[in-house]
Amino acid sequence: MANTDGSPVIHNIEPGDADDVWPLSIEAGWNQNLKDWRFMLGAGRGFGVLNADDRWDASSLVLPLGQKLAWISMVLVTKDRRRLGLGTTLLKRCIAEVRESGAVAGLDATEQGRPIYLPLGFHDLYRISRWHLDDVKGPKVPPPSHVTLRPFALSDLQRLATYDRPLSGMERPTLLAHLATRLPSIAWVAEARSGALVGYVLGREGRTATSIGPAIADDEETGLALIARAATSVAGPFILDVPDRHLRLRLWLQEQGAVTPRAYMRMTLGTAKDLDDPTHVFALAGPELG
Ligand SMILES: CC(C)(COP(=O)(O)OP(=O)(O)OC[C@H]1O[C@@H](n2cnc3c(N)ncnc32)[C@H](O)[C@@H]1OP(=O)(O)O)[C@@H](O)C(=O)NCCC(=O)NCCS
Repeated sequence: MANTDGSPVIHNIEPGDADDVWPLSIEAGWNQNLKDWRFMLGAGRGFGVLNADDRWDASSLVLPLGQKLAWISMVLVTKDRRRLGLGTTLLKRCIAEVRESGAVAGLDATEQGRPIYLPLGFHDLYRISRWHLDDVKGPKVPPPSHVTLRPFALSDLQRLATYDRPLSGMERPTLLAHLATRLPSIAWVAEARSGALVGYVLGREGRTATSIGPAIADDEETGLALIARAATSVAGPFILDVPDRHLRLRLWLQEQGAVTPRAYMRMTLGTAKDLDDPTHVFALAGPELG
């Protein structure tokens, strides 16, 4: 359907549309399941294009991460409607939505998405690799000697959100609370002898694999120990999105036989405090969640 000027009509995608829009991410081979779509459409705002049969031809989504940052994701166009401008049109709608709220837009671009984002003013922050890990083969990975790992408890949630904010550059208590209930057995926290929180890992089940992340920690040794513990807590296969600069973690993943079929670029339109520094970010929540 088109407006009188030929541009496509943009519809809101409501949480109740999750079942109908999900085929777009399945067609692209992505890992989101219905719980992901329902969460994202409930916590954020979806925009899409319907075809004459009232099926979704294209989707996009804005997920607020605090007042200063909003994540654009799920920019998907069904295969036979690509290169017609739908992706760009939806992206512009998302950018307008973010600007209206006074926030900066961030996203993780696939190699297909990046050519759309660059001309719209987005710039690169850092590269991320998507890793596929079947299972953990090697010996246990201990945390640093002053750190202990223990299973996450719901009573940790507030402390975890406070710890997460400056290290991730995102204010995301709603998202963390959602993830904490998705797959509790994969969730761990790291504490120093003083009792201070020095890291955590959460995860969620997906359509084709279990996603490990976010994993945030004071240092790489703790981040790696948390990820290794998460990967031995539930059955694989797993996916992880890891900033390329974490060389020890990359090496460990390679030793486990993990492979990295694709990469993303973290990009922003404007400047978002603390978002450009992945020093403490060992696995993302996912390109769709930030
Ligand atoms: C990426 C995607 C959303 C683009 O949607 P689209 O509707 O085809 O995009 P547009 O028609 O608005 O393309 C805008 C411009 O982007 C560039 N572009 C789009 N797809 C491209 C590709 N595969 N290779 C190179 N450039 C491309 C072109 O410059 C294009 O303009 P042109 O067709 O006039 O040359 C679509 O290919 C898709 O759904 N891919 C799979 C999912 C995905 O990777 N999403 C992005 C997540 S970050």
